[in-house]
Amino acid sequence: MPPHPENPTWSGVDPSSSAAPLVLVTGASGYVALHCVNQLLRAGYRTRGTVRSLKNASKIEPLRRLPNQHLLELVEADLEKPNDWPRQVIRGTIPIPHIDL
Ligand SMILES: NC(=O)c1ccc[n+]([C@@H]2O[C@H](COP(=O)([O-])OP(=O)(O)OC[C@H]3O[C@@H](n4cnc5c(N)ncnc54)[C@H](OP(=O)(O)O)[C@@H]3O)[C@@H](O)[C@H]2O)c1
Repeated sequence: MPPHPENPTWSGVDPSSSAAPLVLVTGASGYVALHCVNQLLRAGYRTRGTVRSLKNASKIEPLRRLPNQHLLELVEADLEKPNDWPRQVIRGTIPIPHIDL
């Protein structure tokens, strides 16, 4: 994923540096989202993925097999539970659209 040419925060910054944007991917364990997370990590972007349960090994393990794990943070959040979306989940991130049925 190349830097956005019109957004200076994306220009000339090592995506894995602490100064780089943190990308939020909701529903990170989903089929499409997993591929998005994979591409982000391979490109070196710091990525925060939300999942509905960190205890669901069958959903978490594919995420944990992706490269550049040091760039990946997983947090629990359910879109149907507004209280699951405290500022800490969203703060400092550039969200990408949630893709669900
Ligand atoms: N896969 C394809 O080839 C394809 C092609 C064309 C269109 N689409 C469309 O793209 C969308 C996503 O497809 P997909 O295959 O990636 O689906 P998926 O594997 O079922 O992923 C959906 C994700 O959304 C999460 N989710 C569902 N309800 C949620 C909620 N209330 N709060 C937070 N997260 C929630 C799921 O979390 P959990 O893991 O916790 O269930 C899962 O991670 C669908 O609308 C599908 O029709 C897919």
